[in-house]
Parts: sequence; structure tokens; C-alpha cells
Amino acid sequence: MAPRKVKIAPSLLAADFTRLAAEIEKVEKAGCDSLHLDVMDGHFVPNITIGPFIVKAIRKITRLPLDAHLMIENPDRYVSSFAEAGADHITVHAEACRGNLSGVLRAIRSYKVGCGVSLKPATGLSEILPFLSEIDMVLLMTVNPGFGGQSFMPEVLPKITELRKVFQGDIEVDGGINPETSRQTVAAGANVLVAGTYIFGKPDARKAIEELRG
Ligand code: DX5
Ligand code: ZN
Repeated sequence: MAPRKVKIAPSLLAADFTRLAAEIEKVEKAGCDSLHLDVMDGHFVPNITIGPFIVKAIRKITRLPLDAHLMIENPDRYVSSFAEAGADHITVHAEACRGNLSGVLRAIRSYKVGCGVSLKPATGLSEILPFLSEIDMVLLMTVNPGFGGQSFMPEVLPKITELRKVFQGDIEVDGGINPETSRQTVAAGANVLVAGTYIFGKPDARKAIEELRG
């Protein structure tokens, strides 16, 4: 099989929110493939970030695909809000769907947006294996969700390899991604790389994105 194109999704969590429009323009011009929006509710994770209101504002100023990572409880209650705000992909955490993952996936697909499921590092693939045919993208967290700037967890690498054996959709990784860990995760089978600190922490975003593409 031809190697998959590696797609880069800068996480706005690491952007300078006092200059958000300029930061988005910077990574768009630097050649990223989508924008990763880390949504946190203070319940599923011990942090609060953005919601549909900000997604709607971002939608007006960029043509990049918006990849909404919902680190929230009861995500089914908010699928319509994020879809109507302009998200192109909506990823929910299996751990937050309380046994109704199939219903949440159906709700996402009904809005004709990309349908994703994320797993925390400690959650096994068994949570999602029965649903893979309903999923466009699996996001395997390579840190515990909640904060940017954490260290990559190499124990997730075998999980990427195992998933790639049975899933031909997008495998996204998120947390502690830099040129070294991007090489490791792509070799394991990932093809979508979320990076916040590495991209927004560098003076040259284009160079940082190219370094991640390898
Ligand atoms: C954790 C967040 C982070 C962020 C990227 O909940 O999802 O993983 O997107 O973090 P860094 O700064 O490690 O790239
Ligand atoms: Zn994320």
C-alpha cells in the first residue's frame, strides 16, 4: 500500500489567544492541513477552554478544515452546536459516551461531518473495535488529555500499531508531538499529527510543520 500522506493539525491550545486570527493565518500560510480545536469542559478533563461560540468565530476567518476534539462529558448534547458552528470533523471520547458510542456516532454522521473517536492512553482498543466501520478517524491520545506541553507517552505506540492492523481510516495522535515522536508515531501507523507546543513555540511555523512531516 502506498504510504499515507502525513497530515499536520496545529492545536490552537498552544496559540497566542490575544492574536488568534494572526496565529491561524500564520499556520494556514505555513501549509498545515487542518486546525485542531481542543474543547474542554472542566468535567471530563480538569481544564476549560473553548466552545461552539469560538468555533463559529474561527469558521469566519479560515478555510482550513476544523477538527474539533471534544474532551467533554455528554458530547451527544453538543454535536449539533459544533456542527452548526462549522466544525468539519467532530471527535468524541469513547470514555464520555457511557455505552452509547454508536448513538453519538450516528448523531455526528447525521450532520455530514467527519466522525472521530478518541481514547485516553489508558483506554484499550476494545472500546472501539466493534464500531470501526462507523468511524472516519481514531484519535489516540499520546498524553493524558487536559493540557498542552506534556511529555509524549511511548507506551501508546503499540496501540497505534495494533489499530493500524485493523483500521484503514485516519489515525490521529495528539500530545507531545515533535520531530522525534512524529517519526515514531508515523512508523507505528499514525497519519494525522496534532502539535501545539512544537508549532506555536517556534519562530518559523512552516519549518516546524515540515520537520513534523519528516
Ligand atoms: C491535550 C491536548 C494537547 C494539545 C497538544 O488534551 O489535546 O495534546 O492538543 O499538545 P502539545 O502542546 O503537546 O502539542
Ligand atoms: Zn486535542
